[in-house]
Amino acid sequence: MAVIAGNWKMHLGPHETRGFFKDFDTSVLETGHELILFPSTASLGAAFLARGEAVKGIGLGVQNIHWEDAGAFTGETSAPIAANAGAEFALIGHSERRHVFGETDEETTRKVAAARRHGLVPVLCVGETLAERRAGRVDEVILRQLDAALGDLDVEDKRFLVAYEPVWAIGTGETATPDDASAAHATLRARLSDAVGAERASRVPILYGGSVKPENAEELMAAENVDGVLVGGASLDPVSFAAIVRAAGKPR
Ligand code: PGA
Repeated sequence: MAVIAGNWKMHLGPHETRGFFKDFDTSVLETGHELILFPSTASLGAAFLARGEAVKGIGLGVQNIHWEDAGAFTGETSAPIAANAGAEFALIGHSERRHVFGETDEETTRKVAAARRHGLVPVLCVGETLAERRAGRVDEVILRQLDAALGDLDVEDKRFLVAYEPVWAIGTGETATPDDASAAHATLRARLSDAVGAERASRVPILYGGSVKPENAEELMAAENVDGVLVGGASLDPVSFAAIVRAAGKPR
C-alpha cells in the first residue's frame, strides 16, 4: 500500500475545498492506497465536513503546528486545536517552514513531540538544498533533520511518516530521479533501523516529494524504498490527484 498525500499549501479556501471533494473521483479509494490531504488551516473544517462518510478513507492533516499546547501565540495553531478541528496528521519541518520561515531543527523536535502528545501522526519533511547537494552533503543534511525529530521514537510505538523532499525539486518542475530518491530513502531507512530496529523501521512510510505529477508518479513510486508521495501543486486539482493515486497501481 502506498501513501499519497496532498499538501495544498496556501491554496484552496473553504469554498474551493468543498468543490474539490465534490469533484473527486472516490472510486480511486478502491485502489486501497492511503490518501491524506493537508488543506490550509482555515479550510480544514470545510474539508472535514465535505469529506463526510463517502470519502472517509481520506485522512486530513495540518501543514504546521506550534509546539506549545496553548498560549499567547498569535496566528499559530496548536496540536490539540488541530486535532479538535479534525486533523489526524501534521506536516512538520516542511522546506517552506524551514527556508521561508526560518524553522530550526530544535523547533521540529518540539513540534514532533507536541503532535505525538496529542495523537497527531507527524509527517516529518527533510531535504537538502541544491547547494548542499552539489557539495555532496545530502546524507549529512537529511540525517541531521531526521535525528532532530527522532526523540523518544525508540520507546513509543506510535505511527510516524517521513517525507524526503529535496528543496530544489519543490515547485520547480525538477524532480529527483527514482535512483536519487531511492538512495536518500535508503539512507533514512538505515538510520531509522538503527534507532528503532529494522522491523519497526520497515513500517515507517518514507514518501518522496518535489514536483510529483501524474506523468512521473508511477516511476517514482516504483523505486526501491519509496513508499508513496507528497504532492504539492498537482494535488490541487482533484483529477490530477486521482491520476496520481491510480499511478500507484495495485498495492504491493
Ligand atoms: P510540489 O510541492 O509538488 O508543488 O513540488 C511538494 C511539497 O512541497 O510538498
